[in-house]
Amino acid sequence: MLTIEGLHVYYGAIRALHDVSLEVREGEVVSIIGSNGAGKSTLLRTVSGLLRPRQGKITFMGKEIQETPPDQIVRLGISQSPEGRKIFTNMTVFENLQLGAYTRKDKDVASDLEKVMDRFPRVRERMKQSAGTMSGGEQQMLAICRALMSRPKLLLLDEPSMGLAPNLVTEIFSIVKELNADGTTILLVEQNAVRALEVAHRAYVLETGDIVLGGTGKDLLTDPKVKEAYLGG
Ligand SMILES: Nc1ncnc2c1ncn2[C@@H]1O[C@H](COP(=O)(O)OP(=O)(O)OP(=O)(O)O)[C@@H](O)[C@H]1O
Ligand SMILES: [Mg+2]
Repeated sequence: MLTIEGLHVYYGAIRALHDVSLEVREGEVVSIIGSNGAGKSTLLRTVSGLLRPRQGKITFMGKEIQETPPDQIVRLGISQSPEGRKIFTNMTVFENLQLGAYTRKDKDVASDLEKVMDRFPRVRERMKQSAGTMSGGEQQMLAICRALMSRPKLLLLDEPSMGLAPNLVTEIFSIVKELNADGTTILLVEQNAVRALEVAHRAYVLETGDIVLGGTGKDLLTDPKVKEAYLGG
């Protein structure tokens, strides 16, 4: 579904991604684990068209998208729940969700909103609330809901569990599984390596801009190097 080949991304002179190649097949959950500054957010931002690669190719469902504008990429079926939530704090929860559907002109937006709310009852209860007054965990859920409102084929999740209490982390990862079971392909970026590998069909390890390892979630969970560096030994 998504193929990334030889991707190089720079911020000025700073090299953030070096010759990154990976693929996400339809129906998969693919996780990318890596430490702070490894380039995880850079990768997702490049897939979403928010950053332009210096070199390399990104193909989504047979179409090259490394030059495609971000709104067009959403229309093609890729949406992102960004790191740090990035919700519109001065708008209501409902308005944030409406914005998530801004590329759509079909008549199913209202029924999709119901479906999303069924999955996230905590968000439903707060529809008229100003989004900035929600708790961190609620804002994280809202960011995911907003991404779902574009009806993505491929959902990009940047550290969905960041800053959440353990019970909410469990909830978020079970929602990831449910969304995937319902047919959404997911590319997930996480520092919570154990959870990210448990939920993943396949995963990659990103270290200072390089993919250093790839395999099934299970393989990486038992890999000695991964254990030592990311799973606390
Ligand atoms: N706007 C920017 N300008 C300059 N350098 C940047 C910018 N954004 C990121 N970088 C650098 O690019 C590298 C990769 O950053 P990135 O945010 O992709 O890492 P990350 O893996 O998402 O880290 P984290 O786990 O902390 O979110 C880092 O060295 C970072 O300092
Ligand atoms: Mg990041």
